[in-house]
Amino acid sequence: MKRFLLLVSLALVLVPAAAQKKAKKYSHETVAIPQVERQVISIETQNTSLVLLVHPNGHLETVHYGGKLAQPQQFLQQSVNTEDYNGFRGATYPATGGRYINEPALHVKYADGSHNTELYYTGHQVTKRDGCTTTVIGLKDYVTALEVKLVYDAYAKEDVIVEHTEILNGGKQPVQLLNYASSSLYIDADEYLLTHFYGAWATDMQMESEVLGHDMKVIESRRGTQNTQGNNPSFLLSLDTKEFSETRGEVIAGALAWSGNFRLSFEKDDAHRLNILAGISPHASAYPLKAGATFVTPEMIYTFSADGAGGASRNLHRWARQYSVYGGGEVNPTLLNSWEGAYFTFTTETLLRMMDDAAGMGLEMFVLDDGWFGNNYPRNNDDAGLGDWEVNVSKLPEGIDYLAKHAHDKGLKFGIWIEPEMVNPRSDLAHAHPEWVVQSPGREIYQGRNQWVLDLSNPAVEDFVFGIFDRTMQLAPNIDYIKWDCNRVVQSFGSTYLGTEQDRFYVEYTQGLYNVMRRIREKYPKVIVQCCSSGGGRVDYGALRYCNEVWTSDNTDGLSRVFMQYATTMIYPACIMGSHVSTVPNHQTGNVTPLKFRFDIACAGRLGLELQPKYFSEQDRATVDRCIASYKQYRDLVFTGDLYRLASPFDGSYYGLMYVSPDKKRAVVYTYCIHFEPRTVGGKVFRLQGLDPGLNYKVVEQNVDRSCWWGNGQSFQGDFLMGGGFNPVLYGLYSSAVFVLEAE
Ligand code: GLA
Repeated sequence: MKRFLLLVSLALVLVPAAAQKKAKKYSHETVAIPQVERQVISIETQNTSLVLLVHPNGHLETVHYGGKLAQPQQFLQQSVNTEDYNGFRGATYPATGGRYINEPALHVKYADGSHNTELYYTGHQVTKRDGCTTTVIGLKDYVTALEVKLVYDAYAKEDVIVEHTEILNGGKQPVQLLNYASSSLYIDADEYLLTHFYGAWATDMQMESEVLGHDMKVIESRRGTQNTQGNNPSFLLSLDTKEFSETRGEVIAGALAWSGNFRLSFEKDDAHRLNILAGISPHASAYPLKAGATFVTPEMIYTFSADGAGGASRNLHRWARQYSVYGGGEVNPTLLNSWEGAYFTFTTETLLRMMDDAAGMGLEMFVLDDGWFGNNYPRNNDDAGLGDWEVNVSKLPEGIDYLAKHAHDKGLKFGIWIEPEMVNPRSDLAHAHPEWVVQSPGREIYQGRNQWVLDLSNPAVEDFVFGIFDRTMQLAPNIDYIKWDCNRVVQSFGSTYLGTEQDRFYVEYTQGLYNVMRRIREKYPKVIVQCCSSGGGRVDYGALRYCNEVWTSDNTDGLSRVFMQYATTMIYPACIMGSHVSTVPNHQTGNVTPLKFRFDIACAGRLGLELQPKYFSEQDRATVDRCIASYKQYRDLVFTGDLYRLASPFDGSYYGLMYVSPDKKRAVVYTYCIHFEPRTVGGKVFRLQGLDPGLNYKVVEQNVDRSCWWGNGQSFQGDFLMGGGFNPVLYGLYSSAVFVLEAE
């Protein structure tokens, strides 16, 4: 045998290269694909079905996502040709290769340089646990032995289907994943109206809608961190209409649970079908997969509602509170945050006084924001100190322990701010570990807010970042809350740790972040974590798996918040929405709005204050105390109720929303005037929603001596309130009113 090999190799050396090429044998033989039974796989929730059809040639096709079908098996009788010269239409997980020539969910480059993958059905399994049915479908490429598992978790009561994909390199050589979507969804409708969310610092979660034309619409983030300031990885898709409706029509909502680069694409093909692909952005991320290794994608969350955008939002909210948001459905405490009231300039005295005021106002927590750390490079400004997480002894000589004890003695919880993924060049850390900074050798490391990003794709940095959280928790017994900030995007990316495999950077940064968060949750299951990233730069269901809430935006102007909160709750439940009352003129916009208006906006989320309370006049202080006390009476509805949006701030002069308890016995209604509207003299009709039409509700306006509604304090039947009987007079710009409804 050895001699034979020697002869062959000698021959190869002796035969010239051109002749060797000719000598290689090509044939037109193909690998046989096993025929399979034609069958329907129906993934179902209470009111929806996702129906997949297995063709005898092994192709898997998505034939329906929408309202529940009683007889999905009837698709077996449908005679359709899924394949024509233009490609294989409707593929459930389309891969580059075979007849498929549109945007792929999967694109693999093999060791021999080839790019073709053709996935065929190999089998599926269904398992059930409480409230959720999991369907796992196997697909395989018989030439390369690459395997894909499509995993669908169907949450019956919430009408939510969560999908992820597992890609196994079953071959003997490493491969590169060029596209590796979490999910692909083919939809067939006459019109597709896409609503999505974009934003920037202090203008987070802006909403826009567009009717999709042919070809491709892409929503993407390449920011590495702060993935949702730019675009949010979520959308609503209204079907068969050009108009957004809160209450009518079929709507699909989707959200990707991933805090890194993402990509959602919407490709309307020549047959007018729409393919939605959702997953990690392939930008600079040709992910290497060794032989035998599996890549697990993030989860894509889908819901369908026949009751307009409102129905889709409520499905997502219910699911999120129950299964996704950390501590979802629990009431988080009201708080005073030190940032806009003190910024970097404070002493122990300043903070003690703020805590005393917070306790006096009936708030439940004090949060010490930025500025408490750094000694060689004190954090007196944003140009130094990040990375050096020890207490600044000249500012706070008594330590954090002393502050936390004061808070606890006053009956307040205590929280503290960290930004553990970042480092200022002016810090001990930057000098001790230059190799931990995200950088590309020989190139400038660009700064934003005077800071650099630490390389979380490196396990040593993971340990360090976990250690920051861990040590901060030890600064005082019973730290109740951590505000985790992240104020910088990745630019000119590079990792000293990853060497020549820089393609792994973006994916492994986010995986590193999740590894840290997982460790934090194992050790500190009770601490409340707020996810902040220059405000709403990390508002996604990936981060929310570990965090109780988000800082919705650095913009605390009541009017700006109307639009941001309206859009945020299209996808995310109100329980995650940190909403703070700040001073006027507003520090971000310069706008001046009445104190009550600011409260009435903030009370639609998790209420907080972010100002220096000692500057309140006596009259203002009375308003504040009253608003906080009333919020505490009904806030369980904000945290657990069903949201109904009554008037869109985009449509006119008014904004309105309400939360209704699951048993429909209690509700809170918020109404606002956001443009001057002289016709309000006669009252603005808000048609309430979600009430029991047959129940009588006592309606009481909050925080006023004289109500703006003639019916205040009286009882009305649900159908009257929903039928046009509720018409508060919101006279004047920034007038607002909050009503609590109790069934009798
Ligand atoms: C970011 C946050 C703010 C505040 C500052 C502190 O901008 O979004 O809420 O914490 O950092 O530097």
